[in-house]
Formats: sequence, C-alpha cells, structure tokens
Amino acid sequence: MTTPTTSPEGLELSRPHGTTDWWRDAVVYQVYPRSFADGDGDGIGDLPGITSRLDHLADLGVDALWLSPFYRSPQKDAGYDVADYRDVDPRFGTIADAEAMIDRAHALGLKVIVDLVPNHTSDQHDWFRAALAAGPGSPERDRYIFRPGRGTNGELPPNDWGSVFGGVAWTRVSERADAPGSAWARDGEWYLHLFDTSQPDLDWSNPEVRTEFESILRFWLDRGVDGFRVDVAHGLVKADGLPDWQWHSEMVSGSAVDPETVPPAPMWDQDGVHEIYRSWRAILDTYSPVRVLVAEAWVDTDERLANYVRPDEMHQAFNFHFLVTPWSAGELRTAIARSLAATEFVGAPTTWVQSNHDVVRHASRLGLAETGKGPNGIFATDAQPDADLGLARARAVTLLMLALPGSAYLYQGEELGLPEHTALPDAVREDPAFARTKGKEAGRDGCRVPIPWESDAPAYGFSPTGRSWLPQPAAYGELAPDSQRGVEGATLEMYRTALRLRRELGLGRAGLAELPVADENVLALTATTADGRKVHVVTVTGGTGFELPAGWGVLLASTPGAGSDGRVPADCTVWAVDGD
Ligand code: NOJ
Ligand code: MG
Repeated sequence: MTTPTTSPEGLELSRPHGTTDWWRDAVVYQVYPRSFADGDGDGIGDLPGITSRLDHLADLGVDALWLSPFYRSPQKDAGYDVADYRDVDPRFGTIADAEAMIDRAHALGLKVIVDLVPNHTSDQHDWFRAALAAGPGSPERDRYIFRPGRGTNGELPPNDWGSVFGGVAWTRVSERADAPGSAWARDGEWYLHLFDTSQPDLDWSNPEVRTEFESILRFWLDRGVDGFRVDVAHGLVKADGLPDWQWHSEMVSGSAVDPETVPPAPMWDQDGVHEIYRSWRAILDTYSPVRVLVAEAWVDTDERLANYVRPDEMHQAFNFHFLVTPWSAGELRTAIARSLAATEFVGAPTTWVQSNHDVVRHASRLGLAETGKGPNGIFATDAQPDADLGLARARAVTLLMLALPGSAYLYQGEELGLPEHTALPDAVREDPAFARTKGKEAGRDGCRVPIPWESDAPAYGFSPTGRSWLPQPAAYGELAPDSQRGVEGATLEMYRTALRLRRELGLGRAGLAELPVADENVLALTATTADGRKVHVVTVTGGTGFELPAGWGVLLASTPGAGSDGRVPADCTVWAVDGD
C-alpha cells in the first residue's frame, strides 16, 4: 500500500507503508571501536568498553549499531586493512568479547551490523605474504592484482591509476633472484592498491576469493550478527585490461568528473559487482531472522546507487549525495527527491547519513564558509568553522533527516553535538591520507577522536586511566552525556526526543509530500503516517525565516524555543502538527 503524493513540480515523493522489515526504517548508530569506550585502559577503545556502554544506545533510541572493523589488523588504515577476517584484534579483545557484545546488544533490543572489507586485505594477511613468497605466475599471486611494469625494465607502474589516499595505486615488489632461499634482489611485479600500500586489492575474478568471502560471511552470521556494512562495495571488480584512467577519486564523493568529457572509471562501479552481491544475498536469505547488507558505494548518480539495492542484492546503500549537499533548502530538496525517486524505483528504502569516520563532522562541516562535502580534515592553520552556526545547522539537518522515510545512520558523538577536532598536532595523525598527500590533507583523524562520557573524569570518561590514542579537545568536556542528560534543549535530548517521536509516529515509513513555499530558503514537507497523522517538517537554511500557518503546534525544534513566536528562524528545523 502506498500514499502517493506529488510535489508541485511533479516529483513523486511517495513511500510504501506497511512493510515489517526492521531495516527499512532503522536508525543505525555507527560505533568506531577505537574511539567509543576503552575498557582496559590502554587508551584504545575496545569491545568490552563498547559492551559496557550499550545502554547509552538503547537509551538514545536507536535500532541497531554498526561497528567499524575490529578484526586482526596492523591498523595501517585503522582496521580497514584486515589480516585475519575471522579473529578479533588483540587491541579490541577476543572472539568471546565480540560474542558477549552481540549478546548484550540483542538483550537490549539492538541489532548488530559489522564491517566487511572485501576489496583489499592487509599486506600482513596470510594470502598476501604467500603471494610475495610464491613469485610471479603462482596461484598465490592470482588472488591479488599483480602485473609486470611498463617501461624497458618494468620500472613504470602497469597503468596510471592513483590511490584514493594520494600517490600511485601500484607498488613494486622484489622477487627472489631464482630458487627459494636466494636473495630478494630482482625488481619484480607491481601490485594494485586503490588505497594504501598496505592494502593490496583482491582479484574478484578468482573463484577462490569468492569462496573465501562466502565463508567469512557465514562465520559472522553464525555468531549472530544481523548484517554487514560492505566497504568499498563499488570497487571489487575492475574493467578488463585495467585501462588507464588518470582522474582522481575521493572518499565519499567519488571522482566527481564530468561524465560528458571523462570516460567511466574502470575501477569503480563496474556492472560485475552486482553478481557478487546477489550471491551474498542468497546466503543471507538462508538465515533467520533477517540479515542485511549495506553498501558503501560512492557512485556518480542516485540511479547507479539504486542498482546496489535491487530486490535480490543489498538492503541499503549509504546516501552520500545527501551528505555532500550544501546548506541550501533548494539543494536539499533536490537531493531528497532524487534519492527517494531512485530507491523507490527498485523498492528499497533510502539510507540517509550526515557523518561518519571518513568526513568532517557535520557540526563543523556546516559551519564552514563553503558547505558541501568539505575538506579532508581541517588543520589548525586553516579557516576555522563557526562552531555555533555549525551546530545549529547540524541539529537542523539532523531533524530533517530523522523525519524522512527510510533508514538513517548516526555517527558516534553526533548526538552530543561533537565538533571536529581541528587542532590536532601533525605528529599524532594516523590517517594514511596525511602522509600519502605529503601533508596536503589533514585526513580523517579529527572526526575519530575518542568521545566523552563524563565531564569531570580523566579522558572525559573514555578510558579509566585517562589515556586516549588521540588527544581530545577541551570542548568535548562540557558535551559529555552526563552534562547533557535531562537538560532541556541539549543536543542529546533533541536526538532522544526526535528518535522517540520518529518511532512513535512511524515517520520512517510515512508518505512524504512537499508544501509549496515561495521562499527559496525554506523546505517544507508533510509526512503522512500509516494511520493518517500529518507531521509538517520545515527547514529554513537562510533568509528571514518562515511563518508557521495558524493552528500549527510545534512538536520539536532544532533551535531551543524556536517556533514559539510563530516563526521558524534561519538554520533551524521544526516538526509541527495541525492544531485540530
Ligand atoms: C572506506 C572506509 O570507510 C574508509 O575508512 C577506508 O579507509 C576505506 N574504505 C578503505 O578501506
Ligand atoms: Mg583498550
């Protein structure tokens, strides 16, 4: 059953009602394990720490958590370089700790989604070590993408691809001079790594790779996880022959090149990836209760993204087009309408997101002079975000997001209004992007700083010893949950109320229509819930504000007190209901 509604411009904004699958309207909270809560006091967050703080998530009112990787890893890319997919890194705990975390989450009614990193392994993975040892032409090398170099002596990379993190996407290895046991002297083949040198890309045309990942899926499904967030889901298959492609791709926004003048990227979004996800879906569908797949895919259009969530593929795909939309009512409207139309076409929910561990936190991003995707990290010497403006807009865009039909992802600490750490000393930076761009990009450490729990405790309650793998900014102290809980107007209370109302009203499954408003700074929507209730959602991105029609009563406002004088001010979202 649907409640079809058409916006004045003729854009279909309807959504289906009545489905029961939890993921369709789930609010999922991203836990970044090394920065959530440290149980053993070594300054690095861990699984026992997460388990001890799960009550916070239940109290917040989310449906599920997604954890970034906690598998055995040398941590060259914060765990997105996996050395053993079936083991927990000792920094984070043990398999028993993972099982205890899953059990506790389930006891609290929370689903657990884990990260799967299939595009590349760590260079410390057994397979890669074996590939280096076995030499050219071996079946061990065939699991990765090894190629001879170009140039007279193979001294040039096999093609011109660049790494997402900066620099070239190929590294040359040394080969044994002849028989095993002899010196490693001869310059040899090159291997592809779309990310760091320590992250060799797997060759997904090799059936052994497919079988291995099907087994890894089952390993975690058998331990009770409710789903997988699939890292770089658009990267697994590369175009035949690995043709040159000189343009650069960025995390989250992709290549952002003009499709009229630039050929499609041969390493991203190849049609061949979909067959892999169909086979995974078939495996997940043999499990009960339902298990889900979430694509991290930075592709060019909403239509290409929708391919990942066709009925026999994944369940969700992050909507990064929404994340990179500048602070403009008109642009938000277009992003929302296009996303809804594209996912509705394939019968999937839209998956909204504003922050994650790869982008500047939206409380800071939206306080920059230029809004939109934002830079890859902010240096202390860069123009600084306007903290108050950023927080006001972040709260406003979050209230807009949480009123939209579909699923929404939150990043740990955004419910506290945490800003980006913009004054990290370069010496503590760990993101490989900082080194690979030779310090041109600050990288993602500023959004990965350990989060506060208690205003007056060492490391603001992150760790019992006060240790913290990255220094926390002083501003985090007063944002700790113990300083916000029960405080009217606090960001934490806004999130709690929004999530409660969203659930009670069924906003995640409501039909959506646009209210015609002449002011280009105003986006006004009406959500019609399954039982016919109407919630008006008004976001004002600038100008003089919006006068609420007579009889509308404010349910919730992103700016404390807004709407009580009958107006929604700039940089604010209000949820309202008809008076009668
Ligand atoms: C996307 C992840 O979100 C990011 O953190 C990681 O660096 C890359 N994929 C490579 O795995
Ligand atoms: Mg620890």
